[in-house]
Amino acid sequence: MSFMQIKDLCVHYPIRGGFFNTVVDQVYAVDGVNMEFEKGKTYGLVGESGSGKSTTGKAIIGLEKITSGSIIYEGKDVTNQRRERTSAYNRDIQMIFQDANSSLNPRKRVKDIIAEPIRNFLKLSDQEENKRINELLAIVGMPEDAKYKYPHEFSGGQKQRIGIARAVACNPKLIIADEPVSALDLSVQAQVLNFMKDIQEEFGLSYLFISHDLGVVKHMCDHISIMYKGRFVETGRREDIYQDPQHIYTQRLLSAIPNIEPATRIERNKERQGVEARYQAEQHKYYDENGKVYALEKISDTHLVAVNINEKGGK
Ligand SMILES: Nc1ncnc2c1ncn2[C@@H]1O[C@H](COP(=O)(O)OP(=O)(O)OP(=O)(O)O)[C@@H](O)[C@H]1O
Ligand SMILES: [Mg+2]
Repeated sequence: MSFMQIKDLCVHYPIRGGFFNTVVDQVYAVDGVNMEFEKGKTYGLVGESGSGKSTTGKAIIGLEKITSGSIIYEGKDVTNQRRERTSAYNRDIQMIFQDANSSLNPRKRVKDIIAEPIRNFLKLSDQEENKRINELLAIVGMPEDAKYKYPHEFSGGQKQRIGIARAVACNPKLIIADEPVSALDLSVQAQVLNFMKDIQEEFGLSYLFISHDLGVVKHMCDHISIMYKGRFVETGRREDIYQDPQHIYTQRLLSAIPNIEPATRIERNKERQGVEARYQAEQHKYYDENGKVYALEKISDTHLVAVNINEKGGK
């Protein structure tokens, strides 16, 4: 059972131009995305640069305006509560960023950085707050005296741990992790990823794990969506995606990672296109630049693939 659903999420940016600076076009950064988050599970979002991954994450947490669509959290529509500073939604959904340098205020001591959400959401005495900060530092494997230091006194991996301590400070339900290790050395990447898994297990946390790296995603994620130009071209459980990739774009991404068998289902995928007009749920329908209509077709209970539904005969 999922505790949170994203329904038909769209984030479109207007492009202005011309003499009157009017809206001349739109960037469809996110265009009809559906997701569900389950307790203790990791949802992976993969795609090349500019495909709309970060925009999706930011829209969910409220850093980006939503054009249309809704977010349902524990049965309630919270789409318009995302920007209310003290809402339960803002307490329960947290984010860690790729670049710890810009997400940690360089002029604040570690204890004040970690205490931000605590001061915002929990009413603790100074003594209780201090105790909680010590606990959090212990959880992320940092010494207690770290709290009097400033971010620049730490390595990249340590800074990421400080960011994680801040994110988990108020016992969140979901952490959005946007490329959380891609700025780190390979050896440190593995440490931070394993540590993220440990605290997931300990606290029953869920992650939205954003990455362009299908190797890392395989290690971390239970369910994976492949994003391309603001839309999902394929979505499924880890096994669906890695053992039975259907969409040509997924297959290309997979064949680029070492140690994973390049998929050889391109012909079958071509066959699917055009003949599979069954799944026509309106919300999953979309067009490409050439006016072809695509839809996410359900090929098993957990696995959906975008297929061209008007190849034959046109619309
Ligand atoms: N404020 C904005 N105004 C206009 N276009 C934007 C804005 N922010 C993002 N975009 C566009 O939206 C699209 C999606 O961007 P986004 O940052 O979500 O991609 P991404 O998948 O996270 O890429 P990366 O892997 O490089 O981080 C891109 O085409 C980007 O240029
Ligand atoms: Mg991004």
